[in-house]
Amino acid sequence: MGAYKGKTDSTEDVRGLLRKEGYSEVVIDHWLNPRNLGQMKNYDGYSGKITSSCGDSMWVWLKVKDNVIQNATYVSDICIGAVSSGSMLTEMVKGKRVTEALWISPDDILRALGGLPENFVHCATLADTALKAAIRDYNIYKAAPWKRLYQQKH
Ligand code: FES
Repeated sequence: MGAYKGKTDSTEDVRGLLRKEGYSEVVIDHWLNPRNLGQMKNYDGYSGKITSSCGDSMWVWLKVKDNVIQNATYVSDICIGAVSSGSMLTEMVKGKRVTEALWISPDDILRALGGLPENFVHCATLADTALKAAIRDYNIYKAAPWKRLYQQKH
């Protein structure tokens, strides 16, 4: 599976190992300091559990005001590709109109990360799929807000 399991003494050791394995500095930074990690209360859009073909999962939450994404958070399984993709994606969508966020693709995430090794490319697709599910959820409840009353808050 996608978890990075290296044993090291310090952050610098980890960075060195990850560089040797071909990860970009951006990926390493987001892996060691993930942005927007965690669940969100009072969200406007929530992806639910989205699972990739590898078995790893991601959840995305959105806070939206006047059709602009004010905040985005995520939780994922411990996979360097998923953590860095979720971290980058949630940074990318903040301040964007919902319709603009729909245009973001897995390639955009990969470009922003400086790429991922071949066997982790699908992690960006997982993040993208989770984002699109959260936007779909937002659109459903925007059209009929009363339906939220029947949905369990997470
Ligand atoms: Fe499958 Fe990262 S290895 S989501």
